[in-house]
Amino acid sequence: MKLRCNKCSFSADYQVNNPWTCEQCNRKYSYKFGKILMCDDMSTSDTKSWHDNIAKNTNKKSFQSVGYRSSIHQSCMINTFARAFINEEEGDTLDVGCGNGIFAEKLSSKLNRKLPYYGVDFSIEQLKLVNTDIILPVNSNAENLPFDDNQFDLVYSSEVIQNIEDISKLIPELLRVTKQNGLLAISSLNASSIIRKLIMKLDPNNQDKKYFLRSKNEPHIYLRNPNNIIDKIDKFRFSLEGVHWIYSPLNYSTFERSSRSEVKKRFAQNFLCIIKKK
Ligand SMILES: C[S@@+](CC[C@H](N)C(=O)[O-])C[C@H]1O[C@@H](n2cnc3c(N)ncnc32)[C@H](O)[C@@H]1O
Ligand SMILES: [Zn+2]
Repeated sequence: MKLRCNKCSFSADYQVNNPWTCEQCNRKYSYKFGKILMCDDMSTSDTKSWHDNIAKNTNKKSFQSVGYRSSIHQSCMINTFARAFINEEEGDTLDVGCGNGIFAEKLSSKLNRKLPYYGVDFSIEQLKLVNTDIILPVNSNAENLPFDDNQFDLVYSSEVIQNIEDISKLIPELLRVTKQNGLLAISSLNASSIIRKLIMKLDPNNQDKKYFLRSKNEPHIYLRNPNNIIDKIDKFRFSLEGVHWIYSPLNYSTFERSSRSEVKKRFAQNFLCIIKKK
């Protein structure tokens, strides 16, 4: 694995579990709390502090502490990711917005693999809850990753981008660290869903039509379509391998190679789109 300094872009081979000092700018990448690789993410945002808070104040290691409203919804997501990856070969994997690590833990047990995993999250309180050796927790903003180009066979992100207003920096960054012929898999809340649109209308906190039912301090939620993700890729060659439409709370999803089916779009609450870097 090669790290890339997220301050000066110098890259070097990296031995897991060892601290690293960038030879060019002297930034220190050290381990804290016994296990978390710290990458000096000084950014602040509502999303970050909200996730810090729920990690501290909810049932520690549960679906709630990463912000899901029900365990059924998280299970639907894990099952869909497992279906999407079942025929993929094992390889270096990055979980983007890994939260408390439950997702990675359950996914890897469903796939019956102990993947060589890195998990990135900008919420230090979330990462403190990771208590599995399946992932190596890395404290960094996903928009500025401390990894060199082309490092991962699989980069995935479950239910993260709905909190990010502008994803034009994030998506190319995730593809940058994906290897050639590797996969980038991103799930989020489906903007075409009839139910989500309805909830949005009924939401008393909904002022600018961008987000749906949420508690008072919860950060804004942005609904999207797979095309909103693909539109952000101009630096890399890629192909859209397909879209899984997820009909949560049913444990059911359908896969299609292009995202043209209007009916599937309307009834799916979430989507998972699979992109291959060429
Ligand atoms: C709803 S939780 C999902 C956790 C996990 N992927 C799952 O599905 O169980 C979203 C996570 O993304 C993290 N996150 C959001 N924006 C991020 C960013 N720009 N960089 C790093 N992590 C981010 C949050 O801190 C939070 O832990
Ligand atoms: Zn540096």
